[in-house]
Amino acid sequence: MKIAFVGKGGSGKTTLSSLFIRHLAATGSPVVAVDADINQHLGAALGLADEEAAALPAMGAQLPLIKEYLRGANPRIASADTMIKTTPPGSGSRLLRVRQDNPIYDACARPLELDGGTIRLMATGPFTESDLGVACYHSKVGAVELCLNHLVDGRDEFVVVDMTAGSDSFASGMFTRFDMTFLVAEPTRKGVSVYRQYKEYARDFGVALCVVGNKVQGQDDVDFLRQEVGDDLLVTVGHSDWVRAMEKGRPPRFELLESANREALATMFAAADASYELRDWERYTRQMVHFHRKNAASWGNERTGADLADQVDPDFVLREIPESAQVSASSAPQPA
Ligand SMILES: Nc1ncnc2c1ncn2[C@@H]1O[C@H](COP(=O)(O)OP(=O)(O)OP(=O)(O)O)[C@@H](O)[C@H]1O
Ligand SMILES: [Mg+2]
Repeated sequence: MKIAFVGKGGSGKTTLSSLFIRHLAATGSPVVAVDADINQHLGAALGLADEEAAALPAMGAQLPLIKEYLRGANPRIASADTMIKTTPPGSGSRLLRVRQDNPIYDACARPLELDGGTIRLMATGPFTESDLGVACYHSKVGAVELCLNHLVDGRDEFVVVDMTAGSDSFASGMFTRFDMTFLVAEPTRKGVSVYRQYKEYARDFGVALCVVGNKVQGQDDVDFLRQEVGDDLLVTVGHSDWVRAMEKGRPPRFELLESANREALATMFAAADASYELRDWERYTRQMVHFHRKNAASWGNERTGADLADQVDPDFVLREIPESAQVSASSAPQPA
């Protein structure tokens, strides 16, 4: 299951992503956690020391490797150089699993032990001032998009992405890549303004969107959120002393998280799990092709000097494959 956390800066995306990831780990679910936020804080929120977080490998720096691996033996993709963030998989492409060893995880993921289990942590890499709004920013998040478009995930395994609700996710189609999007909103006008923008983009693409109210202090806060977002309000989270202790560098055991917040996480889990029933791999594939054609026409063809619409394999539908039928990374054909 692919789960995104989005919201206004400072709303609590990273905090709630990290709590949700801990919740998943505690229930024994395999998790790949991805920090794709402009402010790279997920590692720290999951307990890494500053030096450890700073030493995380950056997906943005591994784009050539990621492209070369995913391209596999797909004859429609002439070279990794012609692969853009929206290039869809086709016959011959390599697909990713959550539970798998592959060169992308080897290069970009770091195992991280949490109470209850070990997860994989990946990060796009820090964004600098000059990245924002230009190609580097796109390529950093593009590494995540490529991986999501090549991922076949089952119901009991999770990719959780902490990301910004930026305009790039709308242009590229990134916002349509998730089974569930949790929009974190504080009970303020600014807090819900991102919701409105997201909702508008999401409507046409059947994106499952739930609002998680954060830093909610009382009934008036709950009433405000309910009034602003209606039934999209899934659950609210109050101030957490557990989170505060963690921020002081004294992380308590996860089972000591306040019971109301544990319940909120369980509600979020149930909502994410229920979204499995709405999965539609054909629609998922169609949408990635739609955004690829759009990106190809608007900048990709010009950038690469090729007609990138030719990369679309009209007969290919991404879908789950039974574990027994999987080709392991080592026995898959090597790229030329
Ligand atoms: N429920 C909570 N209880 C206590 N502190 C919280 C809670 N939610 C968020 N915080 C604190 O608020 C601050 C901002 O939260 P966080 O970093 O998760 O937001 P963000 O949306 O990821 O921000 P950014 O846009 O900067 O990435 C952090 O110091 C965090 O610890
Ligand atoms: Mg953050």
